[in-house]
Order: sequence, then structure tokens, then C-alpha cells
Amino acid sequence: MKEKLEAIKNSALSQIKETDSLEKLNDIRVAFLGKKGELTEVLKGMKDVAPEDRPKVGQIVNETREAIESLLAERIAMFEAEKLRRRYKAEKIDVTMPAKKAARGNLHPITQIKNELIDIFGSMGFEIYEGTEIETDHYNFTALNTPQDHPARDMQDTFYLSPEFLLRTQTSAGQIHVMETGKLPIKVISPGKVFRSDDDATHSPMFSQMEGLVVDKGITLCDLKGMLDVFVKKIFSEEVTTRLRPSYFPFTEPSVEVDVSCFQCGGKGCKLCKGTGWIEVLGAGVVNKKVLEGCNIDTEVYSGFAFGIGIERIAMLKYGINNIKLLFESDLRVLDQIDDN
Ligand code: DAH
Repeated sequence: MKEKLEAIKNSALSQIKETDSLEKLNDIRVAFLGKKGELTEVLKGMKDVAPEDRPKVGQIVNETREAIESLLAERIAMFEAEKLRRRYKAEKIDVTMPAKKAARGNLHPITQIKNELIDIFGSMGFEIYEGTEIETDHYNFTALNTPQDHPARDMQDTFYLSPEFLLRTQTSAGQIHVMETGKLPIKVISPGKVFRSDDDATHSPMFSQMEGLVVDKGITLCDLKGMLDVFVKKIFSEEVTTRLRPSYFPFTEPSVEVDVSCFQCGGKGCKLCKGTGWIEVLGAGVVNKKVLEGCNIDTEVYSGFAFGIGIERIAMLKYGINNIKLLFESDLRVLDQIDDN
């Protein structure tokens, strides 16, 4: 029996040593120590051992069991440590590694400028009126003192949808809608898309404007000039001043073209201002009495000023873009550079 136990022990220990996985170790444990295991089988034979030898044999059995169990435990611990080590290695994360930057989109430059304009004029108390892109000939032209066959119609090459309907060529159309409501005084801006059959480096068939209209008692060209001075300082820079040049628009009288002192060279003359020191930024004027009267506004009491800003033009000037197409091609290499974040 002693030899048998010795043989079991040796066999178990050498199998345990050769085993290379936790699962197999478990099989060995069952094979030797399980209910039907080899050692258990031997124990069943204890009844045949002479009573005086039983303590001795019992001791050997226990030693054998302990030897097998202790080596099993040692190997199991070893495999488990190894398993854990491999898992730690596989799941290792370097918490000091810089995080991957999620690419963030930004608003389109036109939207950025539009929002900036809305913020500036909003802070001066202007409300927003959003017109429609499809307009009638009446609102876009006739009511703005530009009847059929008026030579000023040639200034804007129009997309007609029918003899009556067209794609608005100017946000000025909104002026009439606002004045027609009869609510006075008026202080509105109206940003939106406009359309003209025009296509070159600085013109696109679709572009954006922002109209401004103020109608109140005693409004003069000075009010316009004062407001524009505040506006250009906010949108360009504190040093910028304005200059008004006589111009012509059918719906304003007098009409002016507004220039800003060049914000790049400070007025000395550079490429941006074509050596003149001044850059044209918008059209404006005192609202023509004919237009006010057409909207039933008493011109003995009320007067107003209006202005129209080209949003792409402001964006091109501010960001140094020389071709308007760059604003409409959705090229991320361009758009990413004009970041509002
Ligand atoms: N509607 C004009 C254009 O598209 C711009 C403009 C000029 C608007 C003078 C105005 C203004 O309100 O007073 O060319």
C-alpha cells in the first residue's frame, strides 16, 4: 500500500508539473482526489489494512494528499497569476497619454458674420425681420421706387419665376413688408439670401445681404452716419472710421456709398484698399419719401434711413478671401481656417 501511495504521489506530482493549463490541473485534481479518484480508491482499501498499521498508512495517505494538494495550489496560483498578468498587459492603458482630439466643426463663415451682425445690431435695439426668398415684382422693385422700365432695374439682373414672381434680388424688399404693418417707429434688420444672374470672382448668383431700416420722428443722415461709425468699429476694429460718398439707389434720397478707412494699412494705402486707404462696404441713404408715402407713412412727421450690407463682402474683407467661390465650395481646408471656437 505504501508503494502504491508513493506511486500515486509521484505520478500526480509529475503530471502536475508537466501541466500547462488551469483546466488540466483541475482534471488532475479530479483524477486523483475526486470521489472516484485514485487516492480515494486507495482509501477504500483501508479496511483491509491491519488495525495496527492504519495510523501509519493513514498518515502516509494524508501526506500524499497534502503533497498533491499543495503542489496543485502552488501551480494553480502560478497559472492564475500568469493569467492575470496577461490580462493586465492586454488591458493596459496609459492614463498619461494625451487624449485624441475630437475634430469639432464650426459655423460657416457666412453664418459667423451674419451672427456677428445680428449681435451688433441687436445690441443697438434692432429687431429681426425675416423675409421670403421668393418675392413679387412689386415688393422687390416697384414699391421701392423702381417701377417697370426704370433704368435702375438694370443694376440687378433678375431671376424671374413668372412676370409677377421672382427670386428677390435684395433684402430691401423686406423694408416694404415692415413699413406696411403700420407699426411705428421701426428699427429692424433683415438678413437673408438674395439672387442675381451674376457670376465672377466677387459675385455669386446666390449671396447674402442684411438690410437695415430705421423710421422714426426726425431721423436724418447724421443718425445713419453715427450708427455706422459704431457698427464698423465693432465689426472691423476700434480705429476704423467711415466716409460717405454720394451714390444712387431709387429707394433712398440722398443715397450714399459707405467706405471704411482701411483696417489693414490704417489708411496709408495697401493691396486690400487698392492704394486708396478706403474700402467700400455698403450702400445706404435716407429713405425716399415716395417709398414712405407708398406705405402710408406721414412724411411730415416721420423720416428714416436704410442700409444694405453684403455679408459675403464683409466676410471676404475680414478673412482676406479673394474669391467668393471659396465660400461656397465647402472645402474644409478653407472653412477650417475660419474657426469660431
Ligand atoms: N439693395 C441695395 C443693393 O442690393 C443695397 C442698399 C443700398 C440697401 C442702399 C439699402 C440702401 O437699404 O439704403 O444693391
